[in-house]
Amino acid sequence: MMLLVNSGRAVYDDRSARMVARPYEPGVDLNILMPDRKRKQKPSVSIIGTGRLGTALAMALSAQGYALRSLVARRIESARKAATLVSKSATFASNSTKVSDANIAAFAAKQIGSLPQADLFLISVPDDQIESVADTLSRLRFERKPVALHTSGALSSEVLLPLAAQDWSVGSVHPLISVPDANAPISGAFWSVEGDRRAVRLAKMLVHDLGGTSFSIRTAEKPLYHAAAVMTSGNVTALFDVALEMLVACGLTRNTARQVLQPLLISTAQNLETKDPSAALTGTFSRGDVQTVKRHLAAIKQHDLKDALDLYCRLGKRSLKIAKKRSGITRILDRC
Ligand SMILES: NC(=O)c1ccc[n+]([C@@H]2O[C@H](COP(=O)([O-])OP(=O)(O)OC[C@H]3O[C@@H](n4cnc5c(N)ncnc54)[C@H](OP(=O)(O)O)[C@@H]3O)[C@@H](O)[C@H]2O)c1
Repeated sequence: MMLLVNSGRAVYDDRSARMVARPYEPGVDLNILMPDRKRKQKPSVSIIGTGRLGTALAMALSAQGYALRSLVARRIESARKAATLVSKSATFASNSTKVSDANIAAFAAKQIGSLPQADLFLISVPDDQIESVADTLSRLRFERKPVALHTSGALSSEVLLPLAAQDWSVGSVHPLISVPDANAPISGAFWSVEGDRRAVRLAKMLVHDLGGTSFSIRTAEKPLYHAAAVMTSGNVTALFDVALEMLVACGLTRNTARQVLQPLLISTAQNLETKDPSAALTGTFSRGDVQTVKRHLAAIKQHDLKDALDLYCRLGKRSLKIAKKRSGITRILDRC
């Protein structure tokens, strides 16, 4: 049972014996938005954390006509750099009527206590900093209670409890896209959204305006959800790095290796766009080529490529499972 306290933003969870943000119950309501009439006035936004994602968000939101009240980074130089980038991109797009006022105040983390009122505080700092940022923000006193959204994939809105306890609306909004620098495009991404009702409503509007699609995730499932994202992005990158190492052992330069593998990587991703892995899988394991697997293993061992051997055997077993092949290959991989 959950006990309700404090106007509905924070609740007591007697399973964990902790105060938590009131969970949003997910449904199939992708991108449910307010009617256009009510959406004309875009909320004002302050962004805490002007790194890769925070700056990309600042530029994209400014381009969509959101008024950026303040940008905050650990170091003031970072926040100023982001403000300059936003101003430049706003000037570049100045023939658009959507672009918001680009005179944005830059703050260092230690100045958070002086932040002006905004409708939305978007927290895009490293995961382990979110709680302390929330704690500091919770000491601010505003006339209107803002919404706070963080962009972490692994953490849920529960980490914003200090703000929920002050009657802020809290949630999280996480793009399933890799943002290696502030200029990387973020449109077209799917974003998971969770939190209390008001925060979720605002998050969905934001995602829609950023050219993305939102979907709901249960608050408790965020760590597993994020682990899946890491498997698809970070771990695929690590796997690709192992493939580069193997081609370098064949005599190619890293650059050439990266280039020659591109079409293979891209066609694999494209196949997965329209097909289930069972239909998209091609190659040695889908055909069940026993002798080829033996040759692969001998070559990898000969070059003493330990990560390649470990990953080849583990992932090969999964490939066999996907291909529903129970052949001599299973026994060979079991002996890896
Ligand atoms: N990058 C991605 O692909 C991506 C994708 C989805 C979600 N996310 C999520 O977005 C968040 C940010 O990731 P990122 O990759 O953009 O990180 P990042 O590039 O490392 O940027 C972090 C920013 O936070 C600032 N910061 C650090 N501690 C702070 C504090 N206590 N108070 C105020 N600002 C502080 C840093 O300031 P300084 O510049 O002064 O150091 C920096 O501007 C994370 O939760 C991450 O999980 C990232």
